[in-house]
Amino acid sequence: MRGATIIGTGRYVPEKVLSNHDLEQMVDTSDEWILERTGIRERRIAAPEQAASDLAFMAAQRALAMAGIEATTIDHIIVATTSPDRLLPSCACTLQHKLGASGSAAYDVFAACSGFVFGLGIANGLVAGGVANHVLVVGVEVLSRITDYADRNTAVLFGDAAGAAVVKSCEPGRGILAVDMHSDGELGAVLEIPAGISRNPASEETVRGRQHFIRMQGKKLFPFAVRSMEDSVRKVVAASGWSPGEIDLCIPHQANLRIIDAVRERLAVPEERMVVNIDRYGNTSSASIGVALDECVRAGRLGPGDKLAMCAFGGGATWGAVAVSWTRERLAPEPHDVTGGTISATAAPVAE
Ligand code: ACO
Repeated sequence: MRGATIIGTGRYVPEKVLSNHDLEQMVDTSDEWILERTGIRERRIAAPEQAASDLAFMAAQRALAMAGIEATTIDHIIVATTSPDRLLPSCACTLQHKLGASGSAAYDVFAACSGFVFGLGIANGLVAGGVANHVLVVGVEVLSRITDYADRNTAVLFGDAAGAAVVKSCEPGRGILAVDMHSDGELGAVLEIPAGISRNPASEETVRGRQHFIRMQGKKLFPFAVRSMEDSVRKVVAASGWSPGEIDLCIPHQANLRIIDAVRERLAVPEERMVVNIDRYGNTSSASIGVALDECVRAGRLGPGDKLAMCAFGGGATWGAVAVSWTRERLAPEPHDVTGGTISATAAPVAE
């Protein structure tokens, strides 16, 4: 077996900002409640003409540029998403066409907020097993299209974004050292989109009942999220021969600041090593870890040999973690713009 490592990252967040104060005008909520209960100040919302593959394209291009490879070099494209452009064709196939990545296999992974971690896990297996040499993993969501802005329980939480990584072979013992992936379908009803496909096809009734939007029993998910992410990090850290205290950077899925803080305390990871950007983007599900990873890479927070742990939980239920001994050189920090993105981008969609 050979090793697999991350050689490039990229992200894209839409320009439109939806603040807590904006939401105060839409549902019965307050900036204080949202900030105190979730840690979120604002989130990004895709432009009406932007779909998931448009956001994914921007993030993917940046990841490929950092990796220094052409799109035609990619063997597999894995898109993790719960909000693809449409169910057929897959978001990955649409992205493949936009990138001109002819010759690659392209497919979507539905693992809700664990999608990016699951995508990295699959990419690691493909590369380490010799099936592929270059795998593009993209986590992307346009959750604003499946969020019920009349339901204050969910309206305040979600945002739109894309994060990408290019995985390539390396010598064993470097790069991705351990992967942990789990699911428990018994918890399916805790977070669901009740209608729209084969169980409950779209009809006037389902649309009137707002059944094509996300429904969540947030309180039930909370303790499960903390437990599952802690367990998963402990597993990949132990499999890598590290202790949790040695982690240089931990990137958790950004669902709720209180969940992140609880995981950090249980693992005894110092605050400055736990990555938090939920205040600027909210919960972007499959995209959150990819976005945070790219922010860290481009801010120069990762250098050769650094011990990186990424962990997630989400609908399904799904959860998992990845441990990486970072292999890329440390980048000189890029200048940040005031809204939190680094590179100013045109938000225009790319023709299919
Ligand atoms: N504004 C004001 N009040 C609100 C709001 C709001 N936006 N939302 C709920 N409330 C009210 C509730 O109605 C409730 O009122 P009541 O006591 O009169 O009934 C009160 O606030 C407390 O509600 P709780 O649900 O107990 O609030 P909690 O502290 O649990 O926070 C939250 C809710 C933020 C959703 C939290 O439970 C959470 O983050 N859970 C995990 C969510 C998650 O991580 N989801 C998985 C990933 S998403 C994915 O996979 C796509």
